[in-house]
Amino acid sequence: MALLDILEFPDARLRTKAKAVQDVDGRIAQLADDMLETMYAAPGIGLAASQVNVHKRLIVIDVSEDKSSPLVLINPEIVAREGEIETNEGCLSIPGFYEPVDRFLAITVEAVDREGNPFSIDAEELLAVCIQHEMDHLEGKLFVDYLSSTKRQMIRKKLLKLQKQGS
Ligand code: NI
Repeated sequence: MALLDILEFPDARLRTKAKAVQDVDGRIAQLADDMLETMYAAPGIGLAASQVNVHKRLIVIDVSEDKSSPLVLINPEIVAREGEIETNEGCLSIPGFYEPVDRFLAITVEAVDREGNPFSIDAEELLAVCIQHEMDHLEGKLFVDYLSSTKRQMIRKKLLKLQKQGS
């Protein structure tokens, strides 16, 4: 397994639209495992392949307290949505910032697992929010896109400054 580098906002590569995974082969399973390891190490509760500069439709999630519920969703599609929830969202690509975002409260998602088997999951609250957040990444969308442009620019400036200091 390997830790992968996570792209940070405002890196333009985060805006790439991801392509469907055609074959769930050993390389995809390895990518999923590396992404889970990277997510746990960060630490975070979700990671999209887009964030590690692989523009394929694959996300990993674990919203459990004890890393006991890793979820790999390949080619995820939301097939039902209901209600509304607002939570403070963060993102491993936007470190240090947490802002309120509205999402669907409950969703049903169809996806393929790391063995290539189709499955469906009913998610609500934090898990539903996390899936929606990660699926946005596959469209090149970030949670800051839901904020005012003033706030987004402020976050952009602060992160650019930090990235300059860090390099
Ligand atoms: Ni994110």
